[in-house]
Amino acid sequence: SALVRKIHEKQTMNKSRQRFWELAGSKLGDILGVEKTAEQIDADTAAAGADGEIDFKEDAKFAQHMKDGEAASEFAKSKTISQQRQFLPIYSVRDDLLQVIRENQVIVVVGETGSGKTTQLTQYLHEEGYTVNGIVGCTQPRRVAAMSVAKRVSEEMETELGDKVGYAIRFEDVTGPNTIIKYMTDGVLMRETLRDSDLDKYRVVVMDEAHERSLNTDVLLGILKTVVARRRDFKLIVTSATLDAQKFRNFFGSAPIFEIPGRTFPVSIRYSKTPCEDYVEAAVKEAITIHITGTQGDILIFMTGQDEIEAACYALSERMEQIISTSVKEVPKLLILPIYSQLPADLQAKIFQKAEDGARKCVVATNIAETSLTVDGISYVIDTGYGKMKVYNPKMGMDALQVFPISQTAASQRAGRAGRTKPGTCYRLYTENAYLNEMLPNPVPEIQRTNLGYVVLLLKSLQVDKILDFDFVDPPPKDNILHSMYQLWVLGALNNEGRLTDQGWKMVELPLDPPLAKMLLMGEKLGCLDEVLTIVSMLSVPSVFFRPKDRAEESDAAREKFSFPESDHLTLYNVYQQWERHQYRGDWCDDHFLQVKELRKVREVRSQLLEILKTLKVKVPLTSYWPDTDKVRQAICSAYFQNAARLKGVGEYVNCRTGMPCYLHPSSALYGMGCNPEYVVYHELVLTRKEYMQCATAVEPQWLAESGPMFYYVKESDNSMLEHKKRQKGEKTAMQAEMENLRRAGAEAEKAS
Ligand code: CDP
Ligand code: MG
Repeated sequence: SALVRKIHEKQTMNKSRQRFWELAGSKLGDILGVEKTAEQIDADTAAAGADGEIDFKEDAKFAQHMKDGEAASEFAKSKTISQQRQFLPIYSVRDDLLQVIRENQVIVVVGETGSGKTTQLTQYLHEEGYTVNGIVGCTQPRRVAAMSVAKRVSEEMETELGDKVGYAIRFEDVTGPNTIIKYMTDGVLMRETLRDSDLDKYRVVVMDEAHERSLNTDVLLGILKTVVARRRDFKLIVTSATLDAQKFRNFFGSAPIFEIPGRTFPVSIRYSKTPCEDYVEAAVKEAITIHITGTQGDILIFMTGQDEIEAACYALSERMEQIISTSVKEVPKLLILPIYSQLPADLQAKIFQKAEDGARKCVVATNIAETSLTVDGISYVIDTGYGKMKVYNPKMGMDALQVFPISQTAASQRAGRAGRTKPGTCYRLYTENAYLNEMLPNPVPEIQRTNLGYVVLLLKSLQVDKILDFDFVDPPPKDNILHSMYQLWVLGALNNEGRLTDQGWKMVELPLDPPLAKMLLMGEKLGCLDEVLTIVSMLSVPSVFFRPKDRAEESDAAREKFSFPESDHLTLYNVYQQWERHQYRGDWCDDHFLQVKELRKVREVRSQLLEILKTLKVKVPLTSYWPDTDKVRQAICSAYFQNAARLKGVGEYVNCRTGMPCYLHPSSALYGMGCNPEYVVYHELVLTRKEYMQCATAVEPQWLAESGPMFYYVKESDNSMLEHKKRQKGEKTAMQAEMENLRRAGAEAEKAS
């Protein structure tokens, strides 16, 4: 589609840009080397400012802001929670806002990040009596935000978390009978519509962070539009941190837009003069420079993902140690705090803690800190200009997590984080030219770039027969819908008429990606459900392996002990099995470089999936002492046969259907084997330095032929090949007829609209 093409063009451009950077070399490191004196650096940054700095507000205002800012941060330090609440921008418009809500069924609320939308709106609604008959729900695109905000609001309301205020994320429900304010991920609310299509228990739903345009938010907007039409007593509030609110307003037939007046401070933007070669290193240098020479204020660095964040944190602490050991003067402390969605919750909470006096906080984050989490006291933002996005390629039928340049909107959101409590500075590790000419103005909504498997399944179960006809804010490319439908058909979730099969009905009940749901159902059929249940649960949480940088070898060796030579999936199974055998002990995990918190989550997910399976009347067998590895691998193969790859060289494979090269990750159990297996299937492809197959399992070619007869056959003799060709031709004709049907349905839907 045009969109995917656009993204690809961007990517190619990006690659050539990187190559250019490599050739040009980065001068930024030299400019900002910590070895320089403070005066030199000041002179340098002043020089950089001459051609790269943009001031948002004029000088007189700047001075006033400066004062306000100091007042604000002093205020936050000294006052009680209720006084802090009254200081938020939203408080000054509380009554007007409630008036507009009273008079309208759908309202769009726009306000800068930190104005109090997420934490205050729900409380105002409660104070205004909207929780007398029904509850107030608030959706978040990110789990971390749902959890941390619920915690904050429970503190503000002086109630235990899970009592009056609670949260629900996939596989974790911290709400109770008293809960009147419920924060949840948009995915949770989306699935609630399965049980109760009118969402009767909700009096008001706040769809927060709608500007993020997450897949589930977009689908929910369409579903909630019908709820609004059916229930006069229901109210919907859509909030957005940016000004693209017009789109939501139009979608709901001119709902009023309520703007919360901003209180932000100017942020000066410093662009890199030359493209930078290694933004992790550049960011670390920049942060250290700020720490040593800059004025008061915390630092926020934006990176693309966990690996980079860990690398940056490690480099920062190394650098600090070095400086402390060589410096004669006392060096102030730098509190280095990573944050990304897979980080354990207790570590996430740390970013909100105040640094001790004299110390400076340095938060290293993914785009999670762009709008959904607000860390107070940030005065410096270092923006690498990149973010990770999941992109679906319908031609290859695969999702890939890829690094992309961020959009201009995202860049200004990032910069804005520096000006929340006083004027700040944003260092962009890219050139102004790159900003102006290489970044898209707005991010591409997830629905237009992602696999729609579960969404199609859910909409089908909600009796939306013509998916192409569904009321989307921005419809996904038709190809994506058709390919997702095709994939569901291939997995046996849809029949030839495009309706849910019995298996499809079961799959929609499982809060899992369709292939994982299929794996469970196949596990039942093949008599290895217990093993597959463990594997699916392990795949539903962040990695359970703990790999500290300074003990990498030791932890790799520990991991290797769990290895099943033919399967990463079975290796995961083995880890869980052994943990269980050691009474789920924490010290045992420590000894084996495993994260006990994650394993506990696995246990929780496992028991929840088990409950769901029971309601689906699936018989759960007893645990076998030793797994039938063939059966388990067959179940895996039946779910992931579209991700099959064939050996090409050592550790090197090509996707069987697309010819796309893919590689075994060095941490894979299959990697060290004397000879790599001829065929593997993998969980997903992750593009980092190479296209790595995440979680791979060796499979027999005949299993591939059995699970995916529409793609594969085993070449045996001429005779059987002829037969196969005949059969394949028949199947192909049936499939083409089916695709033709889908297309026609699509065209009709288009005509109808
Ligand atoms: O949603 P919006 O960005 O408009 O603001 P918010 O998240 O409601 O944040 C309002 C204030 O609550 C900010 O000053 C945050 O620092 C504070 N807050 C907090 O201290 N802890 C949290 N977990 C969330 C917000
Ligand atoms: Mg918010």
